[in-house]
This record gives sequence, C-alpha cells and structure tokens, in this order.
Amino acid sequence: MEPSIENYIKNLVRDAILHLQFRNERQTYVVANWKMNKTIAEATEFFQKLKGRQDVKVVVCPPAPMLYPVQLMIKQIKKPIGLGGQNVHWEEKGAYTGEISTGMLKDVGCEYAIIGHSERRQYFLEDDATINRKVKKAIKAGIIPILCVGETLEEKNLLQTEQVLSRQLFGALKGIDMSQLIIAYEPVWAIGTGQSATADLAEQTHAYIRSVLKQLVGHRAETISILYGGSVNGENAADFRSMPNIDGVLVGGASLNASSFDEIIDVFAKGVPNI
Ligand code: 13P
Repeated sequence: MEPSIENYIKNLVRDAILHLQFRNERQTYVVANWKMNKTIAEATEFFQKLKGRQDVKVVVCPPAPMLYPVQLMIKQIKKPIGLGGQNVHWEEKGAYTGEISTGMLKDVGCEYAIIGHSERRQYFLEDDATINRKVKKAIKAGIIPILCVGETLEEKNLLQTEQVLSRQLFGALKGIDMSQLIIAYEPVWAIGTGQSATADLAEQTHAYIRSVLKQLVGHRAETISILYGGSVNGENAADFRSMPNIDGVLVGGASLNASSFDEIIDVFAKGVPNI
C-alpha cells in the first residue's frame, strides 16, 4: 500500500520532535585522547593548570601506565573529570602480552574506553570483528565504549565514506546492547593534520551515522552521543558545537595543553549559548 501524504508528514513531524527532545537529553562530552604522550610530571602540570567546568562532561584518556596516577591527580584537584583507557582487550585475563582487561581499567577508576581508534586499526591491524569483541566485553563489564569510526582520505576521494561508516558500524555493533555507548566520528584525513572537517560536512556525516544507528536500534539512536574528532581546537570548536548532531568532541593534539583544552571545554559547557 502506498503511504499517504498525511502519514508521511506525520512521520516527518514525529521524527523532528523526537530529534529535538533527545538532542537536549543527549550527554555532551569533551574527551581528551593523549595517545602516547605525557610523563607523570607533565600530567601533574596539566592538572594543576586545568580549570575544567562543572557543566560539561570532561573525560581524559591517558596512556595505560598513567591511568592510576592520573586518577589520583583528578581526585586531588576535586574536579568532575572522567577517566578512560585508550584500548581494552576482549578477554578478562590470560597470556596476552601487552594487553589490558576491562577489570584492570575498572580497578584504576576508568568508566570509559576508546575502542577502534584509526591508529589501532592502521598500526595494530584491528578489524571490525576484533572491535566488535572489544565493544561487547566493555559493555558487559560496565565500561562505556567510545567507538571510533571514520574513512581514510583515499576512501573519501572514492566517495566511499557512507559505505565505510556503515560497514564499520554494522561490524562493530553486531549483537550489542547499545544502551551505554558513545560514537566518535574521526575522519582519518583530519587526524593530526590541522585540516579538520568543516562543521557542515561533519554534521552531514553525523546525521548519516545516526541514520545507520536507527537501523540498528530504532529511535533509541537519538539518545546516543556522537562526537567529532580530527584537528579540533579552540577556534573551530564553536562551529561543531552549533550542529544538532554533534554532541561533543574527541581531541588529540589540543588536549595536551591545559589552556587549549580549557578553551574547547568552555565552548561545550552548557552555560555558553549556541553560536
Ligand atoms: P587530533 O585532535 O590531534 O587531530 O587527534 C584526533 C584524535 O585522533 C583523537 O582521538
């Protein structure tokens, strides 16, 4: 049966209302991915200088040996900052040299784990099936995965962005309860290059990601925060903040310096109006 125009309009209006309703309810995050950077002395200096904010969720993901000292530093400065790992293994324990379990992450106070970062896909050959096992294990253990997806420059030039994102999302989220999940869209060509995606392009891609999530979990997709990552700084953050499907940022380089990270935090804090 052909859908009537009346039903079509009703559905459009319902979707728009759901979108507006959930947008306000979605958590906004500013997440620091320190990658393989910082000594204890450098991290101490960072937290001594960081102002932080009460009205936005800030998460710091230091390298593994720094998780425990950073947890102590956060406690000491009494700021509401969450802690996350940069990776996690799918098994709880065993002969996996160099790996870290969800239990270990929780033991040192982590609530989050970055999973499937493009650098892990590129240098450590993580594929969608591996990432799926990691996301499953994290959720089961009560760690919130920050699942990274994004296309390479070559894939972008071949107009394969949507195809790649769809494959990565369906692959990583197969059989997963998505109640506790954050997605980070990180176009590989924008990471560490100073060439961020434009806010319009990022918004368009985030809307596509949300449409794929809808295929997986229906309207609950509206509750999932989707962060943008790739050369975010204090200057371009406001453009990303103004977009309806961008619920925060995952920051590499600009998160290494307390004042440049504070600039980004200030932009995403609730007290600051949309620009
Ligand atoms: P940059 O902010 O340095 O581009 O890094 C982004 C990133 O990879 C965060 O996970």
